[in-house]
Amino acid sequence: MENTDWHNLGFGYRDTDYNIRCYYRNGQWGELEISSSKIINIHISATSLHYGQEAFEGLKAFKGKDGKIRIFRMDENARRLQNSCEGILMPEFPVEKFQEAVRLAIKMNKRFVPPYESDASLYIRPLLTGTGPEIGVKPANEYLFMIFVMPVGPYFPEGFKPTDLIIMRKYDRTAPQGTGKYKVGGNYAASMGAGKIAKEKGFSAVLYLDSKEKKYIDECGPANFFGIKNNTYITPLSDSILPSITNKSLIVLAKEMGLTVERRKVPYEELEEFEEIGACGTAAVISPIKGIYDADLDKWFRYGEKPGKWCTKLYNKLRAIQYGEEPDKYGWVEIIE
Ligand code: PLP
Ligand code: COI
Repeated sequence: MENTDWHNLGFGYRDTDYNIRCYYRNGQWGELEISSSKIINIHISATSLHYGQEAFEGLKAFKGKDGKIRIFRMDENARRLQNSCEGILMPEFPVEKFQEAVRLAIKMNKRFVPPYESDASLYIRPLLTGTGPEIGVKPANEYLFMIFVMPVGPYFPEGFKPTDLIIMRKYDRTAPQGTGKYKVGGNYAASMGAGKIAKEKGFSAVLYLDSKEKKYIDECGPANFFGIKNNTYITPLSDSILPSITNKSLIVLAKEMGLTVERRKVPYEELEEFEEIGACGTAAVISPIKGIYDADLDKWFRYGEKPGKWCTKLYNKLRAIQYGEEPDKYGWVEIIE
C-alpha cells in the first residue's frame, strides 16, 4: 500500500485482498466464507440477473488518530438490509451474522483502511442476491450474501465544497408506492439516465421531486436532502426515499446543537426559503449545496458559495464521532481492536 495516494482516492472501485460470502440453500444460511476471488459463479437464470432480486448496503469504517478502527452504526445497516429483503421477498440475513461478516471483512483487509490524516475511509459494501434459477417472476430458492470493501474518498469529487443539484421532472427514480424505501439495485438502474445528464451538465446529482404530484422534495439520486432555515433542520417525510442512517444521525446531532427538527413534506416552493441545503449519506457524508437549478422552469435557487454555518457544524460533529475525536455518547461506533 506504500504507493497509495490516500488523499486523492475519490469514490471508485478498488481491489482489496478478501471478500466474505455466505450461501442460502435448503432454507438456511450457511457459514461465513472468506474468498480472495473477485468473481462469483452464478446460474444463468438467477433472479438477480433477470428480475433485479438484489439489495445492497453501504457503510464505512474509519481509522482514528489513536490508530483504532471504528465502524459506524452497522446495526442500522443490518436492519435496513432486512427491510429491503422483506420488500423484495428475499430471506433476511441475521443481524449478528451481518455484524460478524463486516468485522471479518475489515480484519481481512486491514491494510486498506486509510490512515487518519487522509480523511478517507474504508467503504463496506454488503449485498444480497437471488442466485437460484427461475424464469417465472418469483423469488429464488437460493441466495448469496457478500461483503467487499475498498478505501474511498468523498462520493462527490468536490468533497465538502458546495455543489449544484438539478431538478428534471421528466425523470423519476422510483414510483410513489414503489421500491424507493428499499436499497435495491433497480432504483439505481432507474436513476442512471438522469444522473448521466446531470453530470454532463455539470451538476453533482439530480434532486427528485415526489413522483406522484411533483410538488414535494424527495431526495437526491445517492443521498437524502435536508434544508435549514430559522434554526430548523427540515428533511422530507416520504414513502419513496431511502431511510438514510446519516440523516437519522444528523437529526440527533442537530437537536443536540439546539436546532428544531422537522421531518415532514417539503414543498418545492420552500426551496426559496432555505438558508442552507445539504445532501447527506454514507458515501456523500454531507455535501453542501450552493445551487439548485430547475431545468423545466429555467430557474435557479442559490445558497451561497461557501458551506453554511450549520452544514459545517454538523459535518465536523459527525466526522469527529466517526474518527473517535469525540466521545461516542449514542453508542454509534464499534471499535475493532
Ligand atoms: N438515499 C439514497 C438513494 C442512497 O442510495 C443513500 C445511500 O446509502 C442515501 C440516501 C443515504 O443513506 P445512508 O445515510 O444510510 O448512507
Ligand atoms: C452510500 O452512500 O453508501 C450509497 O450506497 C450511495 C451510493 C454509492 C449509491
